[in-house]
This record gives sequence, C-alpha cells and structure tokens, in this order.
Amino acid sequence: MSTTYRIAPSILSADFARLGEEVRDVIAAGADWIHFDVMDNHYVPNLTFGPMVCQALKSHAKTPTGKPVPIDVHLMISPVDALAGAFIDAGADLVSFHPDASTHVHRSIQAIKARGCQAGLVFNPAEPLDVLDWVIDDLDLILIMSVNPGFGGQSFIDSALRKVEDARQRIQASGRDIRLEVDGGIKADNIRRVADAGADTFVAGSAIFGKPDYRAVIDAMRKALA
Ligand code: DX5
Ligand code: ZN
Repeated sequence: MSTTYRIAPSILSADFARLGEEVRDVIAAGADWIHFDVMDNHYVPNLTFGPMVCQALKSHAKTPTGKPVPIDVHLMISPVDALAGAFIDAGADLVSFHPDASTHVHRSIQAIKARGCQAGLVFNPAEPLDVLDWVIDDLDLILIMSVNPGFGGQSFIDSALRKVEDARQRIQASGRDIRLEVDGGIKADNIRRVADAGADTFVAGSAIFGKPDYRAVIDAMRKALA
C-alpha cells in the first residue's frame, strides 16, 4: 500500500506577531496541512487562540498558486461542541477533539460531520483506544499524542509508537480511509520510526518554526520518509 505522507506544521511554535506570514511561508516551504493547537487553560494548562484567529488565517492557508491548504484544528478544550462549531464556521477543514473532554463523544462527532467537516479523535499518552470500538466508522482522522498536551518543544514519548501500531491495525480492520496523525516531539531524526509504526500524518511545531529555513526542515522530513 503506497502511503501519502503529510506534514502538518503546528502554529503553536510560530511567531504569533506574524501568523499570516508564517502560514504562507511554511506552506511555500512544502507544508501539506496547517495544524491549529487550540488550548483553553482548562483541559490543558495553557491558552492559545480562538476561531477568530482561524478566520483571519483562512485566506493565508493557500499554496503560492492559490490552492487551499487544509486547516487541521486540534481542540484541547472542554466542553467541545460549541467551539467545534465556531471553528467550522471559521474555516476549519478537520476538527479533532479528545474523547475524555466530551460528555457525549458520538454526538460530538456527529455534530462536526453534520456541518460537512472532517472529524477526528485525539488520544493522550495514557488514553486507551477503546472508544474506537464504537466510533471508528464515523472518523476521518485519528490523532495520537506523543507528548502530554499543552506545550510545544517536549520530548517524544516512545510508548506512543505501540499505540500508533494498534491504531493502524484498527484502521486496516475498519476498511476505511482514516488518516493516522501523530503530534508531539516529531523531528527529522525520528519521523521515520513514527511512519514505520503506521502513521501517515505528522504534526511538527518546534522542529520547523523558529528555524532559519523551513523548506530545509520539511525536505529533511520528507527524505527520511522516502
Ligand atoms: C501539544 C501540542 C504540540 C505541538 C507540537 O499540546 O499539540 O504537540 O502541536 O509541538 P512540537 O512539535 O514542538 O512537539
Ligand atoms: Zn496538536
């Protein structure tokens, strides 16, 4: 099975004073998706940005030839439903949330998909995949956290690799085209291990933003994946 790998830079590590320019630059450097790490200082001990920032960046999320680049919203918030809808209105193409942050997981997934948006579930390092037994057929994306959510620049948690393998087996058994994304501590020197475990989409924040040459980093990641 040939795999289309996707690099999804997280704007959590971008220069917040120049977000539009940063989004354009990282797309010009080869990014496939733009990953929005939304934090509420309730579900996680940090606070980032809301739907208005997504709205403001939507027009910048385009390739140099004008092709739209998907905005991949990762909600680290609780409750989920109201803001999930607001991000969809603001232009999100995918919305993923943590099952332990929603009172009714299946209903939250249905509400996202009813708006024509792709839906994903996100699993923290100690969170089991059991809920997938009942909702995998409703998902477009499974996101495995390889750090504890809240901050960029953390080290990769190796046990996430076993969870990626498990998730890949579940996806294969479902027969559905579900993206398997990993978020946290991804670098050019470990991305191959994560792909070998079964991931096809990679969030990278501090590995890219803050570096002098975004294309050099993304090219190094793609070379490691080739
Ligand atoms: C954690 C965030 C980070 C971010 C990636 O809540 O979700 O994982 O996206 O940060 P880096 O790539 O710097 O680990
Ligand atoms: Zn994230």
